Amino acid sequence: MSAAPNLDRAVMALQRGGLVAFPTETVYGLGADATNDDALAHLYAVKGRPTDHPVIVHLGVEESIDAWVTVVPEVARALAARFWPGPLTLVLDAAPAVSRVATGGLATVGLRVPDHPLALELLAAFGGAIAAPSANRFGRVSPTTADAVVRDLGTDVDVVLDGGGCPVGVESTIVDLTGSEPRVLRLGGVTLEALADALGAVPPVGGTTRAPGGLASHYAPNARVVLVEDVDTLRGESERATEGAVGVIGLHAELDVIDLSDAVTTLATPASVTEYAHVLYRSLREADDLGIEVVLAVVPPVEGLGAAVGDRLRRAAAGR
Ligand code: TXA
Ligand code: MG
Repeated sequence: MSAAPNLDRAVMALQRGGLVAFPTETVYGLGADATNDDALAHLYAVKGRPTDHPVIVHLGVEESIDAWVTVVPEVARALAARFWPGPLTLVLDAAPAVSRVATGGLATVGLRVPDHPLALELLAAFGGAIAAPSANRFGRVSPTTADAVVRDLGTDVDVVLDGGGCPVGVESTIVDLTGSEPRVLRLGGVTLEALADALGAVPPVGGTTRAPGGLASHYAPNARVVLVEDVDTLRGESERATEGAVGVIGLHAELDVIDLSDAVTTLATPASVTEYAHVLYRSLREADDLGIEVVLAVVPPVEGLGAAVGDRLRRAAAGR
């Protein structure tokens, strides 16, 4: 008997070509059998995602990488050994047998071993790889709780495994290893500092590869997100606020020193950049639940997970 009551149902759903939402350390994923093209087509349809946007293939163990890739470069082995299981996705040249539905028609594939007990249990019990984008409709804020998944996807998902809140709270860091040097396509759960330490140099960030996580309009809640880079902006916006219409999120240390208008709803005051990442998406969803129109988001320092938080806030502020 498994610890997770729904695990057997989840495995059966995957085997039948169905969709299973499951927790990872970053955000919840919407999973399908990575080798079943019909299941993958259904996944894209439910997600509302363009078919040329690749999904990440989740593996249960590091060693499976060889089956998915033409050649595994040394740097891939080194990064996998250091960061897997963990919030790092490696983009590599896909083996010929890899479904081009999963890769969005590309000749490369994104792979990662997630660091969550329930995800690893699911992968072990299923015995295969699970293709999974974040378990939200296309362009919406990624879910970090099972409740958020259910509210977004409803009956379109066959089984939802509830693992509680996701510990990291922002998506995996994506590193493209198919070029002449490693390149970060998306900032995320593995920090640039940690990557630089592993690679011996800070890798370039940004890329031209098709990646919806790179669209400016991504990660936006219904509320308008206003970036706050300094205390004066915050004070000004706060003074204009009408009751219930404006929410604020920012590091405790930065919010503590100013007097905000009582009309402003405090969504979260994380104590560190790591906690900021952990509460970010939950706070943006909560803002929508509360009917808040404007979220004042105090941009954290660009260190550790603060870089990924700043990245997501900027995209959210760009609107949909
Ligand atoms: O933390 C995460 O990465 C979560 C959890 C569920 O693992 N997944 C996630 O998936 O964020 P999704 O689909 O929302 O974002 C995956 C990103 C997309 O931007 C996609 O374009 C990129 O990974 N990606 C996947 N395969 C790729 C490839 N072969 N080349 C370039 N980008 C790729
Ligand atoms: Mg996503």
